[in-house]
Amino acid sequence: MIHPIDGVASLAAEGSADDLRPMGPITAGMSSDTRDDYGPLLATVYDSLAWAYSAGAIGACKRWGVAHLQPGSSVLFAGAGSATEVVDPVRGGVHCDIVDRSAAMLSRARKRLQRCGLEHQATMYETDLRFFEPGRTYDAVVAHFFLNVFDMTTMLAMMERMQGLLRPKGLLIVGDFAMGHQFLQMLYHDLPMHLFSRWTDSALHEIHDVAAAAQTHGFRLTAHRFFRWGRLGPPWFGSWVFER
Ligand SMILES: C[S@@+](CC[C@H](N)C(=O)[O-])C[C@H]1O[C@@H](n2cnc3c(N)ncnc32)[C@H](O)[C@@H]1O
Repeated sequence: MIHPIDGVASLAAEGSADDLRPMGPITAGMSSDTRDDYGPLLATVYDSLAWAYSAGAIGACKRWGVAHLQPGSSVLFAGAGSATEVVDPVRGGVHCDIVDRSAAMLSRARKRLQRCGLEHQATMYETDLRFFEPGRTYDAVVAHFFLNVFDMTTMLAMMERMQGLLRPKGLLIVGDFAMGHQFLQMLYHDLPMHLFSRWTDSALHEIHDVAAAAQTHGFRLTAHRFFRWGRLGPPWFGSWVFER
């Protein structure tokens, strides 16, 4: 059931499992659900933290990912946060739906789109992706630094969920930490993961092998690029474009 309010919608969950979160009613785009694990403070600093920690690599990774979206196509941004990378596709004529369960993150996304005069050209859903039932499929689903929030089992289930939201031959675009076994690389991945797991519901896990996970679901890799810390540093971020 979808209740759009001020360009933001909440999905009321039915038949939820224990760890799923039915969202409360929304007022002016803000949920009354107190279990927003990001909250206003983290939502405010998140983008700056991501920029500083990756020395720009996360932004570059996300820009490369959305460059694969076609004007006129319909795209779902899963766990979109403040939706930094949504502005350009919306401007370019991509029909964007945004799903995130954090009211604070969505509030920033909405303000960002408002500043650009684009708030009526994207639809936001404040919900857990596991409850999201839009009654349609998308040409592409973008998951930027979203799968990394989950442990391996849940990550695989989320990927399957996104697969179900894609039309045949639709694209799954993932940006995330790149797989690796070097000590420093694992340390670099684990540090924010431990911090976020204390502050949010993020799980503790090893670096996900995104390509291998997608392969188990039958996705076909069509494009891939690594992104270096500060352009010249180690290539510890990746973007993958898969076809369903
Ligand atoms: C690490 S942040 C990434 C945000 C954004 N994609 C980016 O790259 O800046 C993860 C986001 O996923 C959202 N999230 C976590 N679990 C979710 C779920 N089950 N359903 C929907 N959103 C979720 C969080 O609220 C948060 O905004």
